[in-house]
Amino acid sequence: MAEKKGAAATAAPETQGGSRIGFENVSVAYGSLVVLDSLTLTVNPGEIVALIGPSGSGKTTALRTVAGFVRPSAGRITIGDRDVTHLAPYDRNIGMVVQNYALFPHLRVEENVAFGLRARRLPEDIIRSRVPESLAMVGMAAYAKRYPRELSGGQQQRVAIARAIAIRPQVLLLDEPLSALDAQIRRSMVDEIAKLHRDLPALTVLYVTHDQSEALTLANHIGIMRDGKLRAFGDTQSLFRHPPNRFAAEFLGRANLLPVSGLSPLDGNRARVGFGNTALSAQNHHGMPQGSDCLLCVRPHDFKLQQARDDSNSLTGIVRSVQWQGDVHNITFDAGGHELRMTSMPMSEPPQPGASIEVHFSAADVTLVPEDSRHG
Ligand SMILES: Nc1ncnc2c1ncn2[C@@H]1O[C@H](COP(=O)(O)OP(=O)(O)OP(=O)(O)O)[C@@H](O)[C@H]1O
Ligand SMILES: [Mg+2]
Repeated sequence: MAEKKGAAATAAPETQGGSRIGFENVSVAYGSLVVLDSLTLTVNPGEIVALIGPSGSGKTTALRTVAGFVRPSAGRITIGDRDVTHLAPYDRNIGMVVQNYALFPHLRVEENVAFGLRARRLPEDIIRSRVPESLAMVGMAAYAKRYPRELSGGQQQRVAIARAIAIRPQVLLLDEPLSALDAQIRRSMVDEIAKLHRDLPALTVLYVTHDQSEALTLANHIGIMRDGKLRAFGDTQSLFRHPPNRFAAEFLGRANLLPVSGLSPLDGNRARVGFGNTALSAQNHHGMPQGSDCLLCVRPHDFKLQQARDDSNSLTGIVRSVQWQGDVHNITFDAGGHELRMTSMPMSEPPQPGASIEVHFSAADVTLVPEDSRHG
């Protein structure tokens, strides 16, 4: 089987490097309603890009323009060097998996997986080897003879993935593939998808999800959509650590956003700002100018009760609530009239509501974000 996986991974030579997905100023409108507004985005070959954003922000629409089920009203879609904007879905060499499995209920698992191969009129011997190979890649080889109704939700979704990769697509589109599954199965499926991508490193994946932890775990880059527009795009870690605006900070992970003022640049990338009467220092990653009023983004786990470094920032506050969640303690506290939230390792003696606390955070861990009131 390892040999066959290798064969799948190296796929046909024309797919090498030719699987880049390009959106160039792609807009989609229904009547006068613009639901995708001049989207420009590149997914490099072999990358996983996650598109996240609130309901109705245009994620599925973007994905469907790549699949060919939605025609852009303007702009171009490319796959590799091909302009596919006007190609039929069938001619795009794309595998797609949607939320609700959509397996054919009257076909056994193996016939579901063979479906796209038969539609492409591939020779029977290829179908006979591809079906078990694809099922093996998602750990479903033993279920070939079952009907979809005889499988759990997670198993059905694995079969749907096997069906999508059986045609050896250049591009795999996943639209909330795990959202119908419960939390524990979702976590193990995320691991499965990561493994699948290790087995098929040339496959370019566009992954639409509501679930930011799926995006953070799987994606090389993340795009954050809102109202049909791409509001933020970046490699996963930088986007999390240095969100470019309030919306990105709050949508990807939890964020405390402290209103700060009177920015004065320090050495390197850092700057000093005032939070009420307290001077704080932070990364000025977005290069905001002297005197700016902006937001300081502190992730809940960056607040510490112990001072780790001499140059840490400190804030004092009053504890409002303490919540134990098994592997963490969540503490909310009031500092200067703002309710802030911290997450820590479980403590044997956590602070009590009403107690005063001093929290510390390193300038290296926190970043200044432009205040963007029009969109915030
Ligand atoms: N065929 C259609 N006709 C009219 N409006 C549509 C059509 N399809 C989608 N829309 C609208 O386009 C907008 C974007 O929809 P889309 O399905 O892309 O959102 P989404 O980000 O995937 O949301 P969700 O997270 O809920 O799946 C929505 O306002 C939706 O109502
Ligand atoms: Mg959707």
